[in-house]
Formats: sequence, structure tokens, C-alpha cells
Amino acid sequence: MKSKFITFEGSEGCGKSTQSEMLFTYLKSKGHNVIYLREPGGVKLSEDIRLMLLDPKNRICAQAETLLYMTARAQVVEEIIKPALEDGKTVVCDRFLDSTVAYQGFGLGVDIKLIKIMGDFATQGIQPDLTIFLDLPIEKGLECRNNCPDRIEQRSLSYHEKVRQGYLMLAKEEPCRIKVVEVLADKLDTQNKIREIVHVF
Ligand code: TMP
Repeated sequence: MKSKFITFEGSEGCGKSTQSEMLFTYLKSKGHNVIYLREPGGVKLSEDIRLMLLDPKNRICAQAETLLYMTARAQVVEEIIKPALEDGKTVVCDRFLDSTVAYQGFGLGVDIKLIKIMGDFATQGIQPDLTIFLDLPIEKGLECRNNCPDRIEQRSLSYHEKVRQGYLMLAKEEPCRIKVVEVLADKLDTQNKIREIVHVF
């Protein structure tokens, strides 16, 4: 496998962080020069913005929310993702621009064309080579939610369903880049499906 930008997407409680970390550890063990990040986060400014975004005490309108996710993204792209890819490293990232299209676009009704234009600015045109969308029914994912849900997790079932359907539409639009992986009961089985896709890619 050549150096690649691989992102993970999914709705709440789908096991995305576990699966992306498992893939990162696996690729490292195979000798790949690989880094791991999560979004929003990865650098100080973006982690600070993450705390703001997820704090249930904050009132944040849809426009501000979209811009904050984009700001967090712009900084981690400039500081970490862009230099890593230019260095020939593989980047595994837990969430990226598709999250904004799904959560703020499909979920909150922010204009998706506008999100894509802002996204292009924030990412400097950097796009994932491969995106793994982990698909799990919303009710199942939300069952895994802890007893202090964050500002986004607190949203209604119908909001989260719109997010999931949004992801499925994105996957239909870009079947070469976005691969839908059904979440299986055993996390190793799910991981093996992901590795098969990464190897072929
Ligand atoms: P996480 O739970 O995957 O760590 O992500 C944090 C939350 O932020 C999660 O509820 C999804 C949400 N999110 C958005 O709403 N838009 C975005 O652009 C990103 C990256 C995350």
C-alpha cells in the first residue's frame, strides 16, 4: 500500500474510534509510516474548539457550529495533515469533511453546496483517498452512549437518522472513495472487513 489519506466516518456509537485505532496499529505493525488523528482535534486549537462544540452548556447556532468545525479542520490540515501527506506518510483520521456534510448539512439543514465550498477552503483541497463509513442502526449506536451525552449526542433520534441517511447518500454518490462497512457484533470481524478494503485499495 502506498501512502494514503484514510478517513473513518459514522454515526454515534458505531465503534469508529476503536476501528480506526485498530487499523492505525495494524498498519504501523506492518511497517507503514502512519499517523493517527481525530477530528475535531489533533492540535491544540482544534482540541480547544472540540471542547466548545461538545459542551452541552454552550448555545451554538448551526452557522457558528459549521464554522467552528471548519476552523478546527483548517488548523489540523495546515499543521499536521498536509505536511504528513507531503512527507509520504499515511494519515488515518477519525472523521473529516464528510462529517460536516452529514451532521450540519443533512442533519441541521445547512446548505451542502456551501459546506463543500467552505470545506475546500479549510482543507486546501485535500481529500481522503479512502473513507470507511461504519454503518450501524441509530438505536443500537445510541445505546452505547454514556450517561453524560455531549451537545451533539443529545440531539433527537430523528436528527441522528438524518445524519445516517446522509452518509448513505454520500456513499452512493462516491462509491469509489466511500466504502460502507456494516458494523458486526465482533469488532475483529469488522476490522477484518476494513483491512480487506484497505489492502485492495
Ligand atoms: P466524535 O464523537 O466522533 O469524536 O466526534 C465528535 C462529535 O462531533 C460527533 O458527535 C460528531 C460531531 N461532528 C460534527 O457534527 N461535524 C463535524 O464536522 C465533525 C468532524 C464532527
